[in-house]
Formats: sequence, C-alpha cells, structure tokens
Amino acid sequence: MNISRKDFLKKTTLLSGGLILLPVIGNLSGCSASAESTKVTVSPEGIIKYNIAGTLKNPGDGELLELEKTDSKILLIKKQGNSFTALNSVCTHKGCELVKKRDFLDCPCHGSEFDFSGKVIKGPASEPLQSFKTEFDGKNTVTIFLK
Ligand code: FES
Repeated sequence: MNISRKDFLKKTTLLSGGLILLPVIGNLSGCSASAESTKVTVSPEGIIKYNIAGTLKNPGDGELLELEKTDSKILLIKKQGNSFTALNSVCTHKGCELVKKRDFLDCPCHGSEFDFSGKVIKGPASEPLQSFKTEFDGKNTVTIFLK
C-alpha cells in the first residue's frame, strides 16, 4: 500500500474532535515492528495514566507505550527533574517506527534522528514528531493528554 506523506500525516494527527489511532501504520511499507512495548488504556477523553514506579528513573530513560486496541505507540521519555515528554513513535518522513537510543530517537529506515523534544536533528525527515502534553503527579503517575 502506498500512501503519500501528506495523507499519512493527516491520518495520524490527533484531531481535536477525537482520536485517530493509526490503523494505517501497520500497513505502511518499510515499517519495522520492533521494541518491546507496554500496553496502556486510553480513556474516552484521550487520557493515559501511566504508572512509572520502578521505571523512568533517570533523564533519557524511555518507555514505548502501545495504545490498547490500536497499532499506535507513544514514546514516554523522562527529562531533567520531574518532567516527561510523550512523542508519537512514528517517523514523520515515511512512517517507520523510531528506535530510542541513549540520547536521541533513530529511524532505522532512512536515518532520520530526532531529539527528545521531537525536533529533527538529522533528515531526511523535516517535520518534528507529534508531541503530547504530560503531567506528573510527583509520585508515580504520568498523565498523557492525547487531545
Ligand atoms: S521513514 Fe524515517 S527517515 Fe524515512
């Protein structure tokens, strides 16, 4: 199945009216299913509550979260202090699943790299990763807002 980049981005963007959760990702040619992920539940309001107890202790630690009942995945990464970033795990170039390295996100398909804020640090991708607002309760729960 061939799909244009523009169509892909349209289909993968979370619109304000509801979640569009990427059944198309699994059909993109050249994609690699890879890293181990943790299944998470998304509320009807588009909220994920993720318990980080025992994980995400140090800046740069990351978890790949698989949104239940979809093929969509989000990378949750600990930043400095008690802040976190949540990024769509799909490369904005042609839709391959990114691999988290120690200090950046790597695309195994054509070599794009993104920093932990989702900004492109090496092409051919030119668009940043879709990011989602997060809140940390100061204990063990990170809330990710998909809408
Ligand atoms: S799909 Fe990621 S660089 Fe091409």
